[in-house]
Amino acid sequence: MSTADIRSVLRGGGDRFIYLSSALAALNGLLFGFDTGIISGAFLYINDTFAMSPLVEGIVMSGAMAGAAAGAALGGRLADTLGRKRLILLGAAVFFVGSLTMAVAPTVPVLVAGRLIDGVAIGFASIVGPLYISEIAPPRIRGSLTSLNQLMVTVGILVSYFVNFAFADAGAWRWMLGTGMIPAVVLAIGMLKMPESPRWLFEHGREEEAEAVLERTRQGDIDEELAEIRETVEKQSGTGIRELLKPWLRPALVVGLGLAVFQQITGINAVMYYAPTVLESTGFGDVTSILATVGIGAINVAATVVAIALIDRVGRRRLLLTGIGGMIATLVALGAVFYLPGFGGMQGILATGSLMLFVAFFAIGLGPVFWLLISEIYPLAVRGGAMGLVTVANWGANLLVSLTFPLLTANAGKPQTFWLFGVFSLAALLFSYRYVPETKGRSLEAIESELRENIGTTETAD
Ligand code: BGC
Repeated sequence: MSTADIRSVLRGGGDRFIYLSSALAALNGLLFGFDTGIISGAFLYINDTFAMSPLVEGIVMSGAMAGAAAGAALGGRLADTLGRKRLILLGAAVFFVGSLTMAVAPTVPVLVAGRLIDGVAIGFASIVGPLYISEIAPPRIRGSLTSLNQLMVTVGILVSYFVNFAFADAGAWRWMLGTGMIPAVVLAIGMLKMPESPRWLFEHGREEEAEAVLERTRQGDIDEELAEIRETVEKQSGTGIRELLKPWLRPALVVGLGLAVFQQITGINAVMYYAPTVLESTGFGDVTSILATVGIGAINVAATVVAIALIDRVGRRRLLLTGIGGMIATLVALGAVFYLPGFGGMQGILATGSLMLFVAFFAIGLGPVFWLLISEIYPLAVRGGAMGLVTVANWGANLLVSLTFPLLTANAGKPQTFWLFGVFSLAALLFSYRYVPETKGRSLEAIESELRENIGTTETAD
């Protein structure tokens, strides 16, 4: 965000409204982060209330991710049919019900049901937050604004670590999980006053309303943007999964699916969900491990702020490639810290430092760039559905890593596991270098046009 942008918010131009609606929509990100992070602490105490076998523990832990995959699968279509705003409102209600169910759960099955419901809302939020913001934002600041959502994911995770810490003494896991109801209510109330996405309105024949939203949210002339939206809507033929499989869309699908899987199999959530466990194994005590984890959460937020400041200036590709390069280096180092003998008392400190650097590099590259690109590279007609598909892949890969990480470290060893993430990161680097387009400063419609031209066709019908 440039200083001119900040000045314009303070003066209260059209941008001000954009910032407000983006910030509210970014509460989707906060809920996504909070609800994924909170369980790590709550888990320690749920066991005191209910005796759970390891299998049941696994089900409680992964219930939200399975729910999120389902929510993402459903959410894409719902975003296209219901509209972005209504899906956000529905999601807020589901978040509320999920958190409440978990907080009052009298039995384990009810707790699992709460995790699943909450997961569905996380799945909705992971799609509709970036989608709504990218469609309401002007191209010049679209990257920064859409990445606000990712920033709030990291803030949500950090807040959850603090809330865990606050309720830890009392072992109050029901309060930890129930706290999620608060941002859900704020999101619902705040969004009621916000407009629907102008692009979605236009596509659904509500051109006058779309124009009114653009007028309210743009400072200059809206004719060009309106003409571009009109042209794109006129060119499109159909919606649904069949359209997604058309040859001209394949490159965008490959980019989205590739980044979705690479974002997870390079190991971020092994750190986000298991950092305390990894750190305890270096000889750190409970409190030190939790505090170091809070530090990792804070670095995640800080590096995301840096990414947001840079993303519309240096572009998506440069951040992505630099970030992944750094992840490779820190994963090699992390493996070495656990592999080489002789670090003695330094092992915990070196491991914490490497984990922090790893998270920082994720947070300037794969973290925000994945969510931003998938809200930019799909044509309007299939945007919701396409984002749904790649987001399902993201949650599926997340589930895989979070379930297998304990097994991998126990059987293959920590160094080998981190190096495996390093190998996947190398593949991610080559993939991104080869396939990921630069979308900085261009309208969503221009990106769509280029995609068509890339494969030498303007045809979209059967
Ligand atoms: C990822 C999450 C991850 C978070 C960490 C997001 O971009 O999708 O899986 O937990 O970043 O900040």
